[in-house]
Amino acid sequence: MKCSGIELTDFRNIKEERAEFSDGINVLWGKNAQGKSNALEAVYYFARGRSFRGAKDRDLIRFGSDFTRIKSVCRKDGASYGTTLEAVIPSDEKQKKKIFRNGAPVSGIGEVIGDFRAVLFCPAHLSLVSGPPNGRRTFLDIAISQLSKEYMSYLADYKRLLLQRNAALKTEAKGDSVPRELWETFAEQMSRSASRIAAYRYEYMSMLSERMSRLFREMSGDAERPSLSFTSHSIRKTGDGANVYTDEGDEERGEIEADSFDGFGNTRIDPDCLYEKLLSDIEREMKNGATLWGPHKDDIRIRLNGKEAKYFASQGQMRSLALTMKLSEGELSHAIGGERPVILLDDVLSELDGDRRAFVLGSLGDRQIIVTSCEPSLFENVGKDVNLMHVEAGRIRRM
Ligand SMILES: Nc1ncnc2c1ncn2[C@@H]1O[C@H](COP(=O)(O)OP(=O)(O)O)[C@@H](O)[C@H]1O
Ligand SMILES: [Mg+2]
Repeated sequence: MKCSGIELTDFRNIKEERAEFSDGINVLWGKNAQGKSNALEAVYYFARGRSFRGAKDRDLIRFGSDFTRIKSVCRKDGASYGTTLEAVIPSDEKQKKKIFRNGAPVSGIGEVIGDFRAVLFCPAHLSLVSGPPNGRRTFLDIAISQLSKEYMSYLADYKRLLLQRNAALKTEAKGDSVPRELWETFAEQMSRSASRIAAYRYEYMSMLSERMSRLFREMSGDAERPSLSFTSHSIRKTGDGANVYTDEGDEERGEIEADSFDGFGNTRIDPDCLYEKLLSDIEREMKNGATLWGPHKDDIRIRLNGKEAKYFASQGQMRSLALTMKLSEGELSHAIGGERPVILLDDVLSELDGDRRAFVLGSLGDRQIIVTSCEPSLFENVGKDVNLMHVEAGRIRRM
């Protein structure tokens, strides 16, 4: 997958600009607050259908403008023609955003997700290792959703049911009683979606873990070995933590170490485990006004040589873990989706030491890389052609 170029109108601090990218290494360099990350945000937009910075669509419109337009030409590996994707986002809340593929309107952004694949790494991703579980769940959800529409629909079902169940808990807490059958229906439907979500998450992590170990070893030359495990209420707690099917259940999350295998669809997780939990302590859930068990509490445990990384790893090791996790996401996207995603690196290369930087720039094969940096000197001895672009006050100029 390649992004041959972008054309932006009133996007963030960029008034009207085009940038063309080479198939190899592209560097957007400039001082702080000039628009480097903004440009990368635009490149990434069609990979996920939204900003990578958590911004709302309307935040992307240049202050004072009525709309923004993002145009991006992406090209599948081996294809001679590109696909032009275009989004027009109006500032007027009453108007809908419009999406076009090759100039023809499509029904919505969901229709073009998958046309362009990218993996983005920025400093905030350090919290993949050191931060709270929701960042790791979001990582899984974005990565798996890009590969499986089925996963996306299980997740949407589950989220809808979770909102409904939480509302019912609050209703019951107020004294308006909810019929007993309703709790059973929730438990049945939610545990069914949850068991599929858990299976996908576990399988994805198993595929990720093997690649991550390899990349980590290659990058750091380190003897230390990372490992991942999946913890979830959908999994029964077991003695050795290795079997999904054992039965000594309790209320806590079970944990299974990510194995190594390729492909989705072989793991069966028994919905009964979560079903029972969802009927076990509704009183306490009413007091909390929220559902206490389910995929919204799942987590990934990241260990280095068997020790939990968030408590024991150094800053440098955490950075390498987070980076290899994201790069492995890219490898998996290639293995499963058949396309090498574009690698987008926002402000992370200056944080890496020389060896790791050389590994990132030199070892990613024929992938396209687009990076932002304040230090153009970092790219002087890369040994490959580098397309250097200068970003200043929202203008992008090829050097
Ligand atoms: N919607 C917007 N309209 C106009 N300017 C914006 C908008 N959003 C952010 N900016 C400006 O963009 C600049 C930051 O750009 P950014 O790409 O994050 O900088 P950097 O080059 O350091 O990566 C800031 O000056 C900010 O005020
Ligand atoms: Mg920036």
